[in-house]
Amino acid sequence: MSKITIAIDGYSSCGKSTLAKALANHLNYVYVDSGAMYRAITLHLINHGILKDGHFIKEKVIEELNDIDIRFEYNREQKKSETYLNGVNVEKDIRTLAISKQVSAISAIAEVRTKLVKIQQMMGAAGGVVMDGRDIGTVVFPNAEVKLFMVASNDIRAQRRFLELHDKGENLTLEEVKKSIARRDHLDMNREISPLQKADDAIEIDNSELTEVEQFQLALKIIDEKARSLQTAN
Ligand code: DC
Repeated sequence: MSKITIAIDGYSSCGKSTLAKALANHLNYVYVDSGAMYRAITLHLINHGILKDGHFIKEKVIEELNDIDIRFEYNREQKKSETYLNGVNVEKDIRTLAISKQVSAISAIAEVRTKLVKIQQMMGAAGGVVMDGRDIGTVVFPNAEVKLFMVASNDIRAQRRFLELHDKGENLTLEEVKKSIARRDHLDMNREISPLQKADDAIEIDNSELTEVEQFQLALKIIDEKARSLQTAN
């Protein structure tokens, strides 16, 4: 089977990255976590005092973009790709609550998106990539052979995120987690540029009632069917 592009979009805490990683490992594809790139820019802006408690001057953010280099490197021991910001591994630092709270505002800036979409398109130019995010099937790879759109109930998503945060020592109540997810969804869906939306040709997977294995098997079935139909068409 020739290497295709798999775009996975969806709401926050819908299990996109878990699925994307499992598919990339299984297919021997490259996995790109596009959200990590928006998070890394957010971290850089905080570290440089340009973003403080959600406040920033847009022109300063745009100016700073020239000084931001984001890459992924594969960690052989951990068997996963990690995010590097200007040469420094920031994989842990970008997953904090402070970043989650502020990243949506930064990702709504047109110049931020232009910069990252260009890099993402280069990363996937040769095919053989699984990329997850919010605009992968609509903007980054509108011609992706397989587009999945992940959804899950608000309660399930909040519960998953709550457990994740507690593992990291961030002690929010379930109600606070619910609010934070709802706020991020709202911002991501209602921004002017490339809002989160399902591509017309994306296949929706509701994983509220699915285990990780079931979700993986369902996605793989969709991919196999698509690959077979492409072969027949050729
Ligand atoms: O997938 P994530 O939760 O790590 O993404 C963090 C934020 O980055 C998300 O709230 C919106 C933004 N994002 C985006 O605007 N476009 C993408 N392709 C990926 C993420």
